[in-house]
Amino acid sequence: MSLFFERPDFGERAVLVHLKLNSESEPEDPREFEELVISAGGDPVEFLTGSRSAPHAKFFVGTGKLDEICSAVKSSDAELVIFNHNLSPSQERNIEAELKCRVLDRTGLILDIFAQRARTHEGKLQVELAQLQHLSSRLIRGWTHLERQKGGIGLRGPGETQLESDRRMVRDRIKSIQARLLKVRKQRAQGRRARDRAEIPAVSLVGYTNAGKSTLFNKLTEADVYVADQLFATLDPTMRKVDVAEKGPVIFADTVGFISHLPHRLVDAFRATLEEAANADLLLHVVDAAAEDRATNIKRVEEVLKEIDAHRLPTLMVYNKIDLLEDSVSRIERNAEGQPVAVWLSALNDEGFDLLFQAVSERLPGQLVHKTLHLLPKHGALRAAMYSHKAVLSEQVDDNGCINLEVKLQEMDFSRLLKAAGLKLEDLVAL
Ligand code: GTP
Repeated sequence: MSLFFERPDFGERAVLVHLKLNSESEPEDPREFEELVISAGGDPVEFLTGSRSAPHAKFFVGTGKLDEICSAVKSSDAELVIFNHNLSPSQERNIEAELKCRVLDRTGLILDIFAQRARTHEGKLQVELAQLQHLSSRLIRGWTHLERQKGGIGLRGPGETQLESDRRMVRDRIKSIQARLLKVRKQRAQGRRARDRAEIPAVSLVGYTNAGKSTLFNKLTEADVYVADQLFATLDPTMRKVDVAEKGPVIFADTVGFISHLPHRLVDAFRATLEEAANADLLLHVVDAAAEDRATNIKRVEEVLKEIDAHRLPTLMVYNKIDLLEDSVSRIERNAEGQPVAVWLSALNDEGFDLLFQAVSERLPGQLVHKTLHLLPKHGALRAAMYSHKAVLSEQVDDNGCINLEVKLQEMDFSRLLKAAGLKLEDLVAL
């Protein structure tokens, strides 16, 4: 099995190909492409660009460009050609046949990076599943292609049998990974329900790849020894509980690094991991403050957040790596209402963590109230107010005509609604 699923051996000399296509509404960024190849461990020896109105059906690029790639491969002695686009299985195969050199498309490249970065058991399973799905479409096409060429009794060679068993192995492996993922997700959902019951707020770190998320996450959470109390024993290891002053326990979650235009197949494969971000009470958007294209990276992350429906969550910007800036003083930036919107710090130098905790504490929603109120018929106005606030979880009428109303809402809102109804909490507890 390992023959197929180990990630390609990088550190290879690679020719990069990027086309400007008129048919593309959101073109890929050539600068990001080069960064991605380098972060996958590739060595870009040539960067070929061009433009077309639409991809060539057989080779993606035109035949003239293909000749150009071919000479670049020869002259630079490259082992690999990487496209900043998604290729169909047959395009990939046709190009490989012409160039006599391995070809990787954008999804393959991103999968390779994810394979190197996946840290959790679930993350690793997800990468393997996405790799297998990417591979299986190629194997199946390869198979039908050969079948058409061969066919006929007596012509069935070992190659064909090999493909058949490869296909079966891939299919079985996909099934077994899907089953394991289902189990991991069930466990995680249980962990999340336990957390919801305990009403512990969750903070997710998101950010463009290399922003320093993991460094920050480890430093922020290292002081707190992981205690396997039942509640969190099933949680993913990239989630840790930290005691934040004035707030109590808070769950911090690290997420996979973002890349712009995450191919849809990958968004699906990583939805479970990214869900962690979408379920947070607060996002920490970690930015490499010293990166040349800082503003573009921020935009790229915001686009991915939109894709996973997390763009409306409260967000605190964290400008990391200030040790590389001229102005290297850690600080909190506030908006006109005095609310913290950004923290400048250095994860490497442990600089500004107190400010970050302070800002997190200010930005996290207040304590939640989760209670069952005993309402008399005359308390109808409060009941209506709780409903219009969408705070009611359940309602039961007892034998005396009293209503037991289970509510969950912010403490501030709870006090406000009680006051508006002219009531005190003591008026609403069962005798
Ligand atoms: P992905 O896993 O790709 O998402 O990256 P990440 O955002 O988790 O970044 P990671 O923590 O791996 O850090 C990337 C690089 O930045 C590492 O080489 C870190 O040592 C470096 N780094 C992190 N924080 C700082 C910092 O405050 N200052 C400096 N100078 N370097 C930092």
